[in-house]
Amino acid sequence: MDLLTVVVGALWAMLPAYVPNNAAVLFGGGPPVDAGRTLGGARLLGDGKTWRGTVAGIGAGLAVAGALNLVRPAVVDALGVALAGFPLRAAVGLAAGAMLGDVVASFAKRRLDRERGAAAPGLDQLDFVVGALALAAVVAPAWTRTTFSLAALAVVVAATPLLHLLTNAAAYGAGLKAEPW
Ligand code: CTP
Ligand code: MG
Repeated sequence: MDLLTVVVGALWAMLPAYVPNNAAVLFGGGPPVDAGRTLGGARLLGDGKTWRGTVAGIGAGLAVAGALNLVRPAVVDALGVALAGFPLRAAVGLAAGAMLGDVVASFAKRRLDRERGAAAPGLDQLDFVVGALALAAVVAPAWTRTTFSLAALAVVVAATPLLHLLTNAAAYGAGLKAEPW
């Protein structure tokens, strides 16, 4: 299998995990998930994790998985590469896992006394990847194993921070996000 096939296949398979964060930025707001609760003097999660953002993120990830399933035959034809389809459990694992990873990272950031919005290089760019792959591996183990070879995982870990930085910088430039990370 050549490199291009691996890269295209890996990024395609991660799309339902990439979109939730961006949807959360677009649609977030309202009551925070932690309802203002604190732990050891700092917020449990902070005002950056809202119900609306979380639900919109998961919904957007599921919608993307459904849309990719629809266009997959045409894209496979056009590109001539094998691409994963998304059974419901895989879609749920990727979308909900991405949001979960982001929430867990905020929990960790608050424990380290980082204010909401403070940059945590590495964590900010990979929290949702680890969450998505971990939850997918739990709810759709066979699918995750066959879809993400070691080479595909390497591509995801290398390319995701770059994509994430680019989209967040764009969202910041468009006035949609308070910080560029
Ligand atoms: N967002 C949301 N709900 C989520 C995740 C994100 O509403 N579950 C929205 C919030 O408006 C948040 C923005 O998306 O401010 C950017 O997300 P993120 O960078 O993850 O949050 P931060 O505000 O930077 O907070 P943190 O320091 O906890 O990462
Ligand atoms: Mg942030």
